[in-house]
Amino acid sequence: MVRPAPLPEIPLGHDRPPAPFSLPDNFQLGTATASLQIEGGDRNNSWFRWCERGRIKDGSHCLRACDHWNRVAADIELQKALGVTAYRMSLEWSRIEPREGTFDEEAIALYREELTALRKAGITPMVTLHHFSNPLWLEDSGGWTAASIVDRFGRYTARVAETLGDLVDHWVTINEPNVYLAFGYLFGEWPPGKRSPSAYFTGARRVAAAHEEAYRLIHAISDARGQHPMVGIAHHLRVYDPATPERPDKRAAARLQRLFQDIFLDRTVPFSDFIGVNYYSRDIVARSANPFTAFTRRSVKADRRVNDLGWEIYPEGLSRICTQLGQRYTLPLVITENGIADAGDTLRSRYLYDHLREVADLVSSGADIRGYFHWSLMDNFEWLEGESARFGLYAVDYETQQRTLRRSGEFYQAICRDRGVTRKSIREYLE
Ligand code: FCB
Repeated sequence: MVRPAPLPEIPLGHDRPPAPFSLPDNFQLGTATASLQIEGGDRNNSWFRWCERGRIKDGSHCLRACDHWNRVAADIELQKALGVTAYRMSLEWSRIEPREGTFDEEAIALYREELTALRKAGITPMVTLHHFSNPLWLEDSGGWTAASIVDRFGRYTARVAETLGDLVDHWVTINEPNVYLAFGYLFGEWPPGKRSPSAYFTGARRVAAAHEEAYRLIHAISDARGQHPMVGIAHHLRVYDPATPERPDKRAAARLQRLFQDIFLDRTVPFSDFIGVNYYSRDIVARSANPFTAFTRRSVKADRRVNDLGWEIYPEGLSRICTQLGQRYTLPLVITENGIADAGDTLRSRYLYDHLREVADLVSSGADIRGYFHWSLMDNFEWLEGESARFGLYAVDYETQQRTLRRSGEFYQAICRDRGVTRKSIREYLE
């Protein structure tokens, strides 16, 4: 892989006036979703149980979600209407392997249909194997801290690569292992609800081993077919900035970065063909920050704009992260998620513009960034926040399952059409 050229200092600041920019022809523009958040209808996974236990803040249930399982064709039409060239989706392990060692050919066939239809529509799929949800049999027999996860994840991966791999050139093995393990094993807020630092660190080791195994298997199975896919992890990366320039605050920020990000990157980058960057926000860290709560309780600078969930809007952070990754590692980057909870759709167009412009600037200064996936195609079941957090380019009415393109969705449509932002779309969507 070619190491990205060192990047010049770029004047940053989301308050700079919008100017046109364009993206290279081969740059992928897409949207991202996750199976549990959109499919609905599955009772065999860890989040189903979590919902049954009343753990979702607004009382909603992942059994409903966007009913995507029954609306695959219509949801591909939504993407065609946007004009995207790529789509990041995930597979639900509990549907594919409902009981340990038993694979459901019908579920696999439905995913095959979806992937085939996407490709036919000119939309390149990027497929995630694990996005926060587990089959119940796995959850109840050790989950991600048991040594058995490596073989189990390997067996599932191999079956998927054998049955669907001919349709997939871009794989994400595991989505945001840091978020998954922190919320599920350290803070106890997500299934399986554990609160154990040692489980978190064991989980981190298992994730690295399971990823390595999946990486090896996907390549071995694809090589035999003469196919050469890209395999990576979608990492949740935030900027951790110290509350003051003083040493103790700086140390606290560096500690969080190490604990929640670097240990995952360092262990998995050697077995990756790209680094997936899921970027949303930054955290301000004071010396008093407790690592075991800091990840959940965000601290935001007083004068900054925030999204509906209180996350700071900080587009420069995306450049800072990509620049750091370019300096530390030699892999191409893909922005595998970026988006905003904004029910009123008053901030999303500007958010989209500011973040994509950071990416465009980096690309034009030589950074190897291959694509941008907006989170999300449509509103969906946002974990503990349920249906209340609205991240979609399409608004979803959960009662009728009607999808309606938001104004910011029209803006993304224009970006996909123009392969960048023109003066006309600035006038139309940002002024
Ligand atoms: C990311 C998750 C994704 C979604 C967005 C808002 O951390 O990967 O599933 O919840 O946040």
